Amino acid sequence: MSRVRLMIEIKSNQNITIHNQRQEIINAEVSCSVKYLTNRGDNNNHSLYHFLSASFFRLWINSIVKTGRMEKQITNVKEYEAIAKEKLPKMVYDFYASGSEDQWTLKENRDAFSSILLRPRILIDVSKVDLTTSVLGFEISMPIMIAPTSMQKMAHPQGELATARAASAAGTVMTLSTMATSSIEEVASAGPGILFFQLYVFRDRNTVIQLVKRAEKAGFKAIVLTVDRPVLGRKEDDIKNRFSLPANYSLRNLEEPNIGKKKDETDGSAQFCHFLGEFDPSLNWKDVKWLQTITSLPILLKGILTAEDARIAIEYGVSGIIVSNHGARQLDYVPAAIMVLEEIVKAVQGKVAVFVDGGIRRGTDVFKALALGASGVFIGRPVVFSLAAEGEDGVRKVLKMLKDELQLTMALSGCTSLKHITRHHIFTNSDRARSASSSRL
Ligand SMILES: Cc1cc2nc3c(=O)[nH]c(=O)nc-3n(C[C@H](O)[C@H](O)[C@H](O)COP(=O)(O)O)c2cc1C
Repeated sequence: MSRVRLMIEIKSNQNITIHNQRQEIINAEVSCSVKYLTNRGDNNNHSLYHFLSASFFRLWINSIVKTGRMEKQITNVKEYEAIAKEKLPKMVYDFYASGSEDQWTLKENRDAFSSILLRPRILIDVSKVDLTTSVLGFEISMPIMIAPTSMQKMAHPQGELATARAASAAGTVMTLSTMATSSIEEVASAGPGILFFQLYVFRDRNTVIQLVKRAEKAGFKAIVLTVDRPVLGRKEDDIKNRFSLPANYSLRNLEEPNIGKKKDETDGSAQFCHFLGEFDPSLNWKDVKWLQTITSLPILLKGILTAEDARIAIEYGVSGIIVSNHGARQLDYVPAAIMVLEEIVKAVQGKVAVFVDGGIRRGTDVFKALALGASGVFIGRPVVFSLAAEGEDGVRKVLKMLKDELQLTMALSGCTSLKHITRHHIFTNSDRARSASSSRL
């Protein structure tokens, strides 16, 4: 009988995906190649050797997985995107991830943050750093809130309910989309958190009135009126994938009797297509006034990108502005929201709160937005990606990671509270251009 010598050789890196006993996906970088050798040097026993070496390899992997040694630690929110991509059907992942047309703005939403650098101050006692703040008079634990993202049940069966619970546990705001797969009432009963309702205006104003009344009744604290989507942007991935809401889900807020639902719309995808055609392209400033006549809730306008519109918004009496390009899903080749934030903050002159969203993935990004004058930020994709990866737990972790990173950035920049973060803590491309031209004079 020949003696088998088995040799495991650590060789090159490979990404593998395994499920552990809790059915959580473990993404691991495994470095391995299996070499089998025999002291007889012939090929007769190759299949046996192959079998033995493969079994050995499997045992080895299992023991590592069981002991948890291979569980890859997620260390920042960006990592959730790759996990979501692996878990979700391509149509769903693309719907969440992609931007419109050339996706120039999508890339710019991230790149713009990289062009802003920090100017830390030193020798300041940072043993206590306070991140608490308030939004529209409501106390929150940090200036990081959840933006409305539609159809979250495609990411996880708990969808918007999981997000609402995670936001509530983190002590921050969740904004529920009109196009949610959980209803206003379901989300309100998910927990005690602070909820805002994002409103799309449909041609049938009765639908709008019913939505606003339901949000008021359910205890939502503000209406976030989205103003950058009079018509739908062109997301080519969605066109290629023939995106539609899978039939087993529905737009729960739009299911009530008499809310424009046609009798033949028996499934979610038909309902989804119907409502895409119902957005009102005639939406204009007069509707902002009209909205104030049907609700006493504060109104935030979401989707402002110019100082001109910010000034008009104030004339129309809104309670706040969210500087946003809709996560680069509407008009392509608009600037990153962070790039126009400062001009809008200046135009607003402190009359109302200014918030920003788009591309925020790091505590340093939040810090930069606050230094440019934002009262707080909203996050979109990190929520749906973490929801897809780990449900409510994932969203909790995203909120915690961003909070911890912001706290660290503040401490390392010498800021012990949000009001200590100033314009002098950052410098931007325009600062560089200004100092270059003044040194030439
Ligand atoms: C999958 C997805 C769905 C969205 N749905 C809505 C929506 O229903 N209403 C809305 O006002 N904005 C919607 N947005 C835009 C977000 O509210 C937010 O402006 C954007 O996601 C912020 O950029 P970020 O994803 O880079 O954080 C959606 C964004 C994504 C990614």
